[in-house]
Amino acid sequence: MPDLAIQTSGLVKVFGETRAVDGLDLAVPAGAVYGVLGPNGAGKTTAVRMLATLLRPDGGEATVFGHDVVREADAVRSRVSLTGQYASLDEDLTGTENLILLARLLGHRKPAARERAAELLDAFGLTDAGRRQVKTYSGGMRRRLDIAASILNTPDLLFLDEPTTGLDPRSRNQVWDIVRVVVAHGTTVLLTTQYLEEADRLAARIAVIDRGKVIAEGTPGQLKSSVGAGAVHVRLRDPGARPAAERLLAEALDASVYLEADPVALTARLTGGSTGEGRDSAAAEQAARALGRLAEAGIVVDDFSLGQPSLDEVFLALTDHRATEEAAA
Ligand SMILES: Nc1ncnc2c1ncn2[C@@H]1O[C@H](COP(=O)(O)OP(=O)(O)O)[C@@H](O)[C@H]1O
Ligand SMILES: [Mg+2]
Repeated sequence: MPDLAIQTSGLVKVFGETRAVDGLDLAVPAGAVYGVLGPNGAGKTTAVRMLATLLRPDGGEATVFGHDVVREADAVRSRVSLTGQYASLDEDLTGTENLILLARLLGHRKPAARERAAELLDAFGLTDAGRRQVKTYSGGMRRRLDIAASILNTPDLLFLDEPTTGLDPRSRNQVWDIVRVVVAHGTTVLLTTQYLEEADRLAARIAVIDRGKVIAEGTPGQLKSSVGAGAVHVRLRDPGARPAAERLLAEALDASVYLEADPVALTARLTGGSTGEGRDSAAAEQAARALGRLAEAGIVVDDFSLGQPSLDEVFLALTDHRATEEAAA
């Protein structure tokens, strides 16, 4: 299919005893950010390296824009870019000098190289920093310059492998803005991350991977509604009322109720029933009923909220299920 940037089927990579990528099936639509979300060691980098033709698969198939990553590696390479791999920054040069040098290596003439460097520095908020040596840069500035270097020639597909790991929240936000700019210019981005929030904010679709396999796939909304209708958070006036509140909520909502570290707080995960909007209103009704029961019992509620499940809850629910299935097997 021409509108798929990446397609993999049963992709495998083995290192000794470790099946780093263990039958990975992906279909990544072109033109958006696709998130590959998984914990450390899930196989994200190994998968990216195979897709970028830096590592040869041990099994299965992968195509990038229809080109096989093994048999047509050159065609794949001409259309992709990977941060921190093809571009290496020289610490003693300024940001501008680095970009011009790399652009010259890519075959741009000097005026064009200068122009592209200036354009990218401006787009990434690095115009002033561009005059300084890279060794004076913060982690966030370095990460941004690295991404700039990887899109000197606008690639059709950009691999961003954990682009914000280790960054402070402000730098993380700046990198997110850059990713949005890159996609707005027509590049498809495959972004790997350990951060659920990052995938939620940036990705049109997400594959959750664990131990080299996709364990869930969909839009952020689909993934969230797959684990339930949401969660009710309640804060009580009196910590002494919590055991009674726990019992009433569990009954009224037919859900498991969690006691938070905060001695007046409880959270219940709703099960809903149907799907989509019907489920949302069912969840609201359930929550209202539960609050009514607390009021009837004379339990004072100081604060209450009904939220969608977070991707954190999604991930926990998915890996919980798997652990349960494994225990049963
Ligand atoms: N070159 C290698 N040699 C041996 N084992 C490796 C190598 N690269 C990765 N692994 C192992 O493969 C698994 C997946 O690693 P990786 O793809 O780096 O995961 P992630 O990027 O999701 O953290 C891990 O268990 C890791 O230790
Ligand atoms: Mg990695």
